[in-house]
Amino acid sequence: MSILEKKDKKVFDLIKKEEKRQLESIRLIPSENYVSKSILEATGSCLTNKYSEGFSRKRYYEGQNIIDQIEDLACNRAQELFKTDYIPNVQPYSGSPANLIALLSLCNIGDTIMGMHLSHGGHLTHGWKASYTGKFFNSVQYTVSKETNLIDFEEIRKLAKETKPKVIICGYTAYPREVDFKKFKEIADEVGAFLLADTSHITGLIAGGVHQSPFGFADIVTSTSHKTLRGPRGAFIMSKNKEIAKRVEKTVIPGLQGGPHNHTTAAMAVSFAEANTENFKSYSNQIVKNAKKLALELKNRGFNLVTGGTDNHLILINTIKSKNIIGKEASLALAKSGIICNANTVPFDTRSPISPSGIRIGTPAITTLGLKEDDMITIADFIDKILENYDNNELLLKTREEIRNFVLKFNLDF
Ligand SMILES: Cc1ncc(COP(=O)(O)O)c(C=O)c1O
Repeated sequence: MSILEKKDKKVFDLIKKEEKRQLESIRLIPSENYVSKSILEATGSCLTNKYSEGFSRKRYYEGQNIIDQIEDLACNRAQELFKTDYIPNVQPYSGSPANLIALLSLCNIGDTIMGMHLSHGGHLTHGWKASYTGKFFNSVQYTVSKETNLIDFEEIRKLAKETKPKVIICGYTAYPREVDFKKFKEIADEVGAFLLADTSHITGLIAGGVHQSPFGFADIVTSTSHKTLRGPRGAFIMSKNKEIAKRVEKTVIPGLQGGPHNHTTAAMAVSFAEANTENFKSYSNQIVKNAKKLALELKNRGFNLVTGGTDNHLILINTIKSKNIIGKEASLALAKSGIICNANTVPFDTRSPISPSGIRIGTPAITTLGLKEDDMITIADFIDKILENYDNNELLLKTREEIRNFVLKFNLDF
């Protein structure tokens, strides 16, 4: 019996139920994954007991000898993984504070920033009006092309020339294609803007060499350590030079945060090492192979995919155009049968983000579980059957059993 089970059965039971749910569902939320036991162990370690405001060798409290080594290790491993001399800061609590820290390090409140519109694939923290990044700064939002739903560099160039942003943000939450960081850098240079690459979703693909790297182009790279990178819930910032890194340090503390989460830093160090292996390269390759195959199979079944397919780990489905169902109804029907995804806006959506026209699905978690291209045929069949019968409760529950049996054939083996 575990100590938690003995001491707090309620919490223990809830954790066990969640573990079971995760193993008995087809988890298609593209920002989720399964982390290794090593990462879970580091996250649940005694490091959570320690306060360490400041940075390695410049702390406010004593007793930091070991913590300094852990933070240095995480920083060194980040540089090794991304083959870069950009200066890492591994203290941001998560992706959203990391973006706010990056913006506050590059510009002043009231300055103009330019990021992708939320319903075109940008994140809230890229200047969406309801986020403080859209309130603190004069936020200009670019969109994808109306015809192709792809990034339109000429439009972005035109908007940048008109609005002269201090920072241009690239890297997305719901954009299924590869990002050309070099082209963004050219535009940023033309208008004298900083380039902020938020690679949160695709960091694992960059680490695995499957997607272009932003290093050498962006002034700051922000990223979550979870999602495709398969690390703990946290974030890091990589700065192009010492001057920017200094500003980032000051924005982290005393600017926005207090003590770093040392247990997360250690787990991040573990994940950087895990991602710097041949195994991880094949994993990130397989994520994309699976996503492409799933996209193809869905298209063959008449689904309408934003941009017609994918280059990365995620697929955006316009469920109204595909099956005449709004996104939320589709995601709820899928969840009833054990396929977990999220409702999502599609470019130029006429519906609201709370009840949008599509769903977003992705392959990072199922690829960790060991699913390969052939399994994508089965998943496409399940999705098709569920959405064709989304109001047939009996069928949805019967399919739940089929899905449980299908997914339990796979095992987490790391
Ligand atoms: C591109 C991007 N940046 C930042 C974030 C925010 O990360 P967090 O949820 O850790 O605050 C997300 C989250 O989904 C994201 O997709």
